[in-house]
Formats: sequence, structure tokens, C-alpha cells
Amino acid sequence: MSVTIAPAVAEQLGEIAAIECAALPAEAWSKQQLANALCDQQQLFLVACAGGGTVVGHILCRVVCGDGELLSLAVSPAARRRGVGRALLQAAQKEALRRDCTAMGLEVRAQNRAAIALYRDQGFIPVGRRRGFYRAPIDDALVMLWQPPRPTQDRSERTAVGGEIEI
Ligand SMILES: CC(C)(COP(=O)(O)OP(=O)(O)OC[C@H]1O[C@@H](n2cnc3c(N)ncnc32)[C@H](O)[C@@H]1OP(=O)(O)O)[C@@H](O)C(=O)NCCC(=O)NCCS
Repeated sequence: MSVTIAPAVAEQLGEIAAIECAALPAEAWSKQQLANALCDQQQLFLVACAGGGTVVGHILCRVVCGDGELLSLAVSPAARRRGVGRALLQAAQKEALRRDCTAMGLEVRAQNRAAIALYRDQGFIPVGRRRGFYRAPIDDALVMLWQPPRPTQDRSERTAVGGEIEI
């Protein structure tokens, strides 16, 4: 499957909101919240598009003063298990590094094995648990943290995210 990872644009918000609702019904960001995120320079908002420009997934992070937080990651049900989630997360990690991120945290439902496996694969480690954090259904939150190795490359040499990725 070939997808293009690129910064999200306003015209894609309807598709992104639909994927949020399908993937994260209890925690979905509204279209208005997503629109606000698009206007915020501290947010890192990427989409994966399949051929024809159809949005098949997105990732939303925040990087403030070197501190990163992964706020949302979702792939449309029909496009799962084909590497889209991994490609989005890798692209976000690369862009976070470009923004001098020294650590990125996240919360994930403790029952969400798919996401936890992906996060572990990408270097996130469990660092805590918040009991009963989630509702509908009630679940604990696993707190995970990614601490990238210090970059050896000069910042100016690091390239911005984008382009087509064969996965
Ligand atoms: C989690 C999610 C984003 C993964 O996206 P995806 O495109 O299907 O993931 P990928 O195909 O890139 O898989 C990457 C790795 O994640 C893990 N993984 C993905 N889906 C999995 C599943 N159903 N069961 C177990 N592991 C899984 C595997 O380690 C996989 O690597 P592998 O294919 O080499 O085994 C997707 O399942 C999703 O949108 N889920 C609902 C929303 C959600 O839970 N978001 C996270 C909120 S914190």
C-alpha cells in the first residue's frame, strides 16, 4: 500500500473527524477541536492519504518547549494492519525531533493491545498507570514515554516531513 504522509489541511477535517468517531468513539475529537488544532503552531497534525487523496489515518501531537504529547492516532478500519499507523507515528517522531522534542508522552487504554504493541515497537515504554481513567467502557490508562536519543545531526540538516511512503 502506498500512502502519502503530509500536514493536515482544513479540507480534510470532515474525513479526519469521521475516522476519529469510528476509531475512538469515546474519546473522539470533534471537528471544531480538530480545526482549532490546525491553527495551533504547537500542534503537529499529519494525515496519511491513499491514492486519490483519500484520508486513511491521522496523528496529532503537541510539542511545547521540547515536551511532546501524543494526543490522537487513528487509522480507518479498512486500512488497518498495512503499516499506516506505524508510518504516521514514525513521521510524527521524525518531525518531533526536528522540533527539538526531548520526550513524548501518551495515554492509552490498557486494553488497547494493538496501539500498545505499536507504541512499544516505536520505542515508547510504560511508565505509569492511571486507574479508571477512561469511561465507556471503564478502563485504566497506561502512560507511556518515548525518549529519543540525542540527535547527532545538525538541526539544519534535518528535513521536514512529507512525501510518499511505500508500506
Ligand atoms: C492502533 C492503530 C492506529 C494501528 O494502526 P495500523 O495501521 O493498523 O497499524 P500498523 O499496520 O502500522 O501496525 C504496526 C504494529 O502495530 C501492532 N498492531 C497493529 N494492529 C494490531 C492488532 N490488531 N493486534 C496486535 N498488534 C497490532 C503490531 O505490532 C504492528 O506491527 P506488525 O504489523 O509488524 O505486527 C489502529 O489499530 C487504530 O486506529 N486503532 C483505533 C484507534 C486507536 O486505538 N488509537 C490509539 C489511541 S491511543
